[in-house]
Amino acid sequence: ATENKAVITLFGATGDLAKRKLYTALFKLYQKGYLQDHFALLGTSRHEYSDEEFQEVVRQSIKDVEETRTGEAQDFSKHFFYKSHDVTKPEHYTILKKRIEELDKQFGTEGNRLFYMSMAPQFFGTIAMNLKKQGLLSDDGFNRLVIEKPFGRDFDSAKKLNDELSETFNENQIFRIDHYLGKEMVQNIQALRFGNTIIESLWNNRYIDNIQVTLSEKLGVEERAGYYDHSGALRDMVQNHIMQIVAQLAMEQPVSFTDTDVRVEKIKALRSLRVYTPSEAAANFVRGQYDAGDGTEAYRSADGVDPESGTETFVAAKLMFDNYRWSGVPFYVRTGKKLADKFTRIDVVFKKPLIDIFADPRNESDQSLNSNVLTIFVEPKSGFAMQLNAKRAGQGFTTQPVDLKYLQSDTDKKESPEPYERLFHDALEGNHTNFASWAEIAYAWKFVDVIRKLWDIEKPQFPNYTPGSMGPAASDELLARDGRKWVYRL
Ligand code: BG6
Repeated sequence: ATENKAVITLFGATGDLAKRKLYTALFKLYQKGYLQDHFALLGTSRHEYSDEEFQEVVRQSIKDVEETRTGEAQDFSKHFFYKSHDVTKPEHYTILKKRIEELDKQFGTEGNRLFYMSMAPQFFGTIAMNLKKQGLLSDDGFNRLVIEKPFGRDFDSAKKLNDELSETFNENQIFRIDHYLGKEMVQNIQALRFGNTIIESLWNNRYIDNIQVTLSEKLGVEERAGYYDHSGALRDMVQNHIMQIVAQLAMEQPVSFTDTDVRVEKIKALRSLRVYTPSEAAANFVRGQYDAGDGTEAYRSADGVDPESGTETFVAAKLMFDNYRWSGVPFYVRTGKKLADKFTRIDVVFKKPLIDIFADPRNESDQSLNSNVLTIFVEPKSGFAMQLNAKRAGQGFTTQPVDLKYLQSDTDKKESPEPYERLFHDALEGNHTNFASWAEIAYAWKFVDVIRKLWDIEKPQFPNYTPGSMGPAASDELLARDGRKWVYRL
């Protein structure tokens, strides 16, 4: 492995994400040699910690990762330092600056600086501005900004944030995290499509009937209610994760597999996504909120949720792309909390043969052939399945659906890095392939804003689905109206 050299400054160093994901990701990079002697992390947040206390926080966070040699976690934690910090006070940045410069010298990081924002989004702009004003950027190595979602609440606030960041960082220096882009099988969409003639040659409106994307969660909002009640599923999952997946399914083949070329195609795809008028949006979006059931409480009864909350915990929608490849092919998407199970999958439903020669001509309702369906299992199992029609064994002639299937082995899965490990490494390498560009985010917000505005005005009839189901009945009706069904249903 090639060593990455940098001082990482982490805003939100004692936060939940840092403790749950970021330190583990860095430790794994350290174990694999992507980080060696020449890195340091300067953590900051409002809390007071000494360097030693902070190092203990880091060791606690990585305690479940097996060491590859004794003393490894201890050695790793010695690269971590801490300064408490009030992000609104300019003079505090001068303290950080001094500390970063010292660490740069001490660890020989060649002026490379990575700033990671993992805290309340209202401060992202202020921090970026101060990084420049107080001179925290280096002149010799790289300066990069990694920024967590949410990236805005709507197009206007996202644009404002982006304008603020752009005062300090250019687009090539900004890495907007969407952890779904760090998932093995989401990255595999491109391998599957652009590495296989039999897939890509059929990947258009002549052969595909519809595409379905499901991000299903079993848990409710748990202790994140405070955030979630102001966000809702549309902002929390659709604007970012679902849009990024859909862009990869819809995009044209990039000229090369580099971040610049991939980005161009994703932007073009999102640009051809039909932005609905308010009445079209009302017809093509479904929202839901879970009720009590299965021995668990209703969303509205959760701690931190407004008892009359109109926040949606479920969204289903029909998306249309107005371009040559996809004209007429609906992309149905859905996501929700407290559904039947935790999984992410993509179902690509192909058109049936134009003539079914196996059907009984005397019986009009005889429909023996099924649609071919290509399923991409993203999580928890990872792999693909292709449903084909085959002859049922035995006398006579009837057909039945059979599956060609590839699932990653447990060893493969164990070797696949977690999203945050991958994305951290990409950012250290300066590779943008698995990050969202501003233009993609802007198009996604413009699409989502129409329905958000409508939903903010019209009072919903909530709650409208039971825990353990696949959402409200209207989600099934959205497809039934088009003579279709969700491939995954209970
Ligand atoms: C996050 C959302 O972005 O993604 C959460 O804020 C959601 O609400 C999570 O639970 C799902 O991610 P994953 O990787 O567990 O599917």
